[in-house]
Amino acid sequence: MIQAVRGTKDILPEISYKWQIVEEKIREQTSRFCFQEIRVPIFEKTEVFSRGIGENTDVVGKEMYTFLDRGNESITLRPEGTASVVRAVIENSLIQQNPISRLWYLGPFFRYERPQKGRLRQFHQFGAECLGSNLPESDIEIINLATSCIESLGINDYNLIINSLGNENSRLNYRNSLVEYLNDNKNKLSEDSQKRLDTNPLRVLDSKSKEDQEVIKNAPIILDYLDEESNEHFNTVKEMLSNINIKYSINPKLVRGLDYYSHTVFEFQHQALGAQDSFGGGGRYNGLFEQLGGKSTPAVGFAMGLERILLILDEINALPVQDSFADVFVITSNTNIVALASKISNELRKTGLKVLYDVLRRSMKAQMREANRVLAKYCIILGEEELKNNKVIIKNLKNSEQVDCLIENVTDFFKNNR
Ligand code: HAM
Repeated sequence: MIQAVRGTKDILPEISYKWQIVEEKIREQTSRFCFQEIRVPIFEKTEVFSRGIGENTDVVGKEMYTFLDRGNESITLRPEGTASVVRAVIENSLIQQNPISRLWYLGPFFRYERPQKGRLRQFHQFGAECLGSNLPESDIEIINLATSCIESLGINDYNLIINSLGNENSRLNYRNSLVEYLNDNKNKLSEDSQKRLDTNPLRVLDSKSKEDQEVIKNAPIILDYLDEESNEHFNTVKEMLSNINIKYSINPKLVRGLDYYSHTVFEFQHQALGAQDSFGGGGRYNGLFEQLGGKSTPAVGFAMGLERILLILDEINALPVQDSFADVFVITSNTNIVALASKISNELRKTGLKVLYDVLRRSMKAQMREANRVLAKYCIILGEEELKNNKVIIKNLKNSEQVDCLIENVTDFFKNNR
């Protein structure tokens, strides 16, 4: 037997209905916020991500699915959506046509990580990007859209953690102080963090290792290094969040794993997830357009992991059990009347009903069992005796009531009994 690749998962019918519920809510919320869908390719030239996300991040350094295609071009399966969206916005001159773009996307992403609960190698993200504004109200629209999606799904006990990484200047000053502090404590740091100290010192703050935590506890914090512009931006974001009653806490050590962030960064956490407690995150990325060869354009966005959202929804029992997927099951008493079953099914389907008939030519008893298994609301029995009078039996499977009905009146019956 050939098995699926480690870290990938089949989404079987008994689960896919949950995905559809979540996706529908997302479509509803994004449309209320007037965000439009963008569908970008699943693979890109590798430099989109290496230049966009940063060579020294875990994602680019260790986790990308990169290969040479048959034309010897280095291709990467997208590990995230932001860099691809920015590439597409630059290439299609969207900002030239309209100074602001509000875009969302949903689909599979790929990271070569160690699989565990809530962590896969092919996972799914829903994300949104607001491109073209440097003003805090665009940060707010993004966070507001994210929280509206989360809450529309029935998830209320989540935590929103925010921080500011400031502008480039503030970040540079902070980085220098942090490196100095970490260097003074280098021998107390884990091996991993010692390496990161040279390549990506801010990421040391993310370390979960106990020895690192001891050092991080007393490390300088970025909020003390924000200049006036950065402070003003962050203060307005906080004020506006409070104004629209979005609860948040500040974690000055939240840096996120991708290099493109500046100013506001945020993450959504839920205790149902255990170690992988973050189910979404994002922030402002004012330098990414230039990084990818475009004109300097401020932007802000977020993405959420759908597998993690579904884990939370299962944990808090927020999704309904699977509804019936057939309204009507047409039961045939012998093989000669399969064509009639097909005809009646089609007539009813045209009225919007979900209709099924047996394609295995099973016994009537087996067909009835199947009708119950698929939770059909009604069955139509094409019995030999009734057909002699151009009639069928319509049985309500909820209360077992049944009536005879002329074939020509079947559609009307269901119009009156929805
Ligand atoms: P990220 O934090 O790397 O951000 O990913 C966002 C979410 O994707 C995570 O919170 C998590 O739920 C999910 N995720 C990431 N990796 C995995 C995995 N291996 N298995 C399952 N779920 C995973 C970004 O990707 C940024 N592009 C977000 C953004 C948009 N920033 C600005 N705009």
